[in-house]
Amino acid sequence: MKVTVVGAGAVGATCADNIARKELAKELVLLDIKEGLAEGKAQDMMQTATLLGFDTTIIGSTNDYSKTAGSDVVVITSGIPRKPGMTREDLIGTNAGIVKGVCENILKHSPDAIIIVISNPMDTMTQLALTATGLPKHRIIGMGGTLDSARFKYQLSQRLGCSPSDLNAVVVGGHGDTTMIPLIRLATWNSVPVTKFLDADQQKQVVADTMVGGATLTKLIGTSAWYAPGAAGAALVESILRDEKKLFTCCVSLNGEYGQKDICLGVPVVIGRKGWEKILDFGLNAEEQAEFNKSADAVRSMNDVLKTL
Ligand code: 2OP
Repeated sequence: MKVTVVGAGAVGATCADNIARKELAKELVLLDIKEGLAEGKAQDMMQTATLLGFDTTIIGSTNDYSKTAGSDVVVITSGIPRKPGMTREDLIGTNAGIVKGVCENILKHSPDAIIIVISNPMDTMTQLALTATGLPKHRIIGMGGTLDSARFKYQLSQRLGCSPSDLNAVVVGGHGDTTMIPLIRLATWNSVPVTKFLDADQQKQVVADTMVGGATLTKLIGTSAWYAPGAAGAALVESILRDEKKLFTCCVSLNGEYGQKDICLGVPVVIGRKGWEKILDFGLNAEEQAEFNKSADAVRSMNDVLKTL
């Protein structure tokens, strides 16, 4: 198996590191536009192979896409990250051009690849990847909800004093501070609804903290987070290459599911060797559906910005 990670910044490098440690691929290409960056990080990671005990060959490349040829999965992390005070949406002007160019290059060398989009604004970049590549919709996956759901479980675990691994909780909708929808009504602690253990104010707080999870880290670190975003990307690569059929929330092209069409938005999907294989209907109540529709409206207007660039 061969995987390419485009963008050797913190998110891309962390994602690559996780892929190598898990030995998800025989060959892993890390590509960046900045001279020497990907080669340097690839070499640094390769020097951990005997220490960590993995057998993946990591190759760095400065914008030479011929090295990525024949990739089974490509993860796109390219673009600028947000700085404190910025929203993910502020990045569209710069990142749209970058992501479009990346998609065209990937397609030339890996026409059969499944593409995972991490670049922000992630929902709009996923839509862009779908249009720019013209690939079947099942092969274009936006990572946002996978990360947001992990952050939701973290926030719940802090509040409940339990292990995040004992929790089931998903965030649907957009990957934006105001567009994501943590579905607290459906969240469970080993199958018991968490709403049984948290009062209304506590539930509200967990939801609010989840929604600004990325912004909180950006403020603390001074730039966008990378450990969880990189790990979320790698978890999707794992479910694809090992055909695990795990359920993740991902940004995928909707055609009537969850009441929306002609838009890429976060919904629960099964991820396997064919990409996203099916969408699960979680049966949103009227209030959640209204929030989902509002989220779709916001993402749609962001997508419209693409037409003006
Ligand atoms: C985040 O939320 C990178 O969008 C990503 O941290």
